[in-house]
Amino acid sequence: MRKEKMHSCLKVFSAVQIYAVLLFLLIADLANAQTAMTNPWSRNRHSLDGEWKVIVDPSNTGEWLQVWLEKKPEKKTDFFEYSFENGPVLNVPGDFNSQRCDLTYYEGVVWYKKEFEYTSKDRKRLFLYFGGVNYQADVYLNGKKLGSHEGGFTPFQFEITGMVKNGANSIIVKTNNARQKNGLPANGFDWLNFGGITRDVDLVETGETYIDDFTLRLKKGSLKTVQCMVKLNGNQAARNNITIKIPELNIKKKIVSDSTGYASVEFSGPFRLWSPDQPKLYEVMIECGTDSVTDSIGFRSIEVKDGKVWLNKQPVFLKGVNIHEENPYKGARAASLEDARLLLGAAKELGCNFVRLAHYPHNDNMIREAEKMGLMVWDELPIYQHINFSDSTVPAKMELMLSEMVKRDKNRCGVIIWSLSNETYPSTANRNSALIKLTGSCRQKDPTRLVAHVTNTQRYANNIMEVSDTLYRYADIVAVNEYIGWYVPWQGKPTDTKWKMDFGDKPVVISEFGGEALYGSRNEPADMAAYWTESYQEKIYTDQLAMFDSIPHLAGVCPWLLFDYKSPGRLHPVYQKGYNRKGLLSEKGEKKKAWKVMREYYQRK
Ligand code: GCU
Repeated sequence: MRKEKMHSCLKVFSAVQIYAVLLFLLIADLANAQTAMTNPWSRNRHSLDGEWKVIVDPSNTGEWLQVWLEKKPEKKTDFFEYSFENGPVLNVPGDFNSQRCDLTYYEGVVWYKKEFEYTSKDRKRLFLYFGGVNYQADVYLNGKKLGSHEGGFTPFQFEITGMVKNGANSIIVKTNNARQKNGLPANGFDWLNFGGITRDVDLVETGETYIDDFTLRLKKGSLKTVQCMVKLNGNQAARNNITIKIPELNIKKKIVSDSTGYASVEFSGPFRLWSPDQPKLYEVMIECGTDSVTDSIGFRSIEVKDGKVWLNKQPVFLKGVNIHEENPYKGARAASLEDARLLLGAAKELGCNFVRLAHYPHNDNMIREAEKMGLMVWDELPIYQHINFSDSTVPAKMELMLSEMVKRDKNRCGVIIWSLSNETYPSTANRNSALIKLTGSCRQKDPTRLVAHVTNTQRYANNIMEVSDTLYRYADIVAVNEYIGWYVPWQGKPTDTKWKMDFGDKPVVISEFGGEALYGSRNEPADMAAYWTESYQEKIYTDQLAMFDSIPHLAGVCPWLLFDYKSPGRLHPVYQKGYNRKGLLSEKGEKKKAWKVMREYYQRK
């Protein structure tokens, strides 16, 4: 008896165990958003941009009140201490800090609500797509949690097929831009922590089997052979006929997906290559039985060799500038096409062929508009300075953010560099091992672009600049941030500065240099840093440009930065007032003296 009883107990126990594991997996799966489909913009989508009702919740009480249930009083004695009705509204896309004075420096929870009508259709699937929410997002549909996403600058999605109601539906998003010590970025960063639903939100409808991912690019090392990879998702993903068309070149390729829904093909054609002088893009269509997607694709190659960067097998000097994702006139997160044209137009006017989009993946308008304007792009993860590399959750966060950035931007030929870190410290535990691993992962996802790590660990003594960070051994370029003339006084004549590096013929990019000036500040004596004069900044630039000629394998420079921008840690009450003043232009677009120095340098290059 005892034995049978034991046996049946074991059976019950194992069934409970299996159930528990399945439940955990289900919750875990629900808990995380999906990596967004490639190029949702060309699909059948319905924008949810515009006014959203909000609840500002500095004490995070909404979590305890379960505001996503939107309880309404029924009995006479009922009352609920929250409501989305008759409260404030915020525009999406857009940070919440710049939309309300009481939120200027706010770092905390804001709940957003949007209602929409939908009519379910047979054999269609529906996704809820977010271009970006800073920093944490918890998403609810009709009172049920869809899941969460962490990371303020990359897209994510939830499938809501079968969950959306016919008629009225309600989405509630808990956004929280509070800093996290194991976040990316972590607690310290030199920009305003713009929070909220800062990018587009769309409903995206696809066929039952849809094209989740596609890649179209020149094969590494080739100027003629294009690779196309497609991944289908759905119950007919396997052995599905896929057609790839480039009408302008009269190219039409038919391929069949394998059992996993994956298909690939290589082909050549009379492509005109993309370059800053000729930013040629082709309309591409990819179709399977139940879905189709289009995109504008350019073809170019990017390599490093003999101390240079080579675009389409021609050496190119990267005439760059750093840009934060901020519309300086609005003092707000840049989000729109107009914002992108404003920022990138100013880079073109400076004479740039390259922009470093610091320090996080910018919105898609910036990436696409740069490509159209013939600007090469440096695309960067917010692995910025004080990262807690020994926290067990950080490696997975870095991997996910890398996947999200690469999947979104890999078809943008304008993007030539994936930058995986900025000014992290060799003394931080696990920094090297974590970033070396991430570098391998990046190359595995995309072997065709350059990989960078930016450091400022160089030693400057006796007018010798010694660059020796281990990370450069794993990167394709030696990217150095140095501020001689501002944070670090010169130790001799700029032209006599010696650079010591032992990275073979790796090309060098000065990824940041410069100094601060308040536009219009012409206090005397002009050679005093403490007066934030334009002429002091101008001298920094003339000295830096003079030094550049002594840097071996210099392949590009990137002044920090294009516009003055908001950074709460910049405290001087006269000269800064919460702005980092290293812009070549003021936040009103006024050109400082240094702007002309940089412009003339690029004209000569
Ligand atoms: C660093 C950092 C920037 C920062 C700049 C500065 O190099 O990369 O994000 O804004 O210096 O101090 O102005």
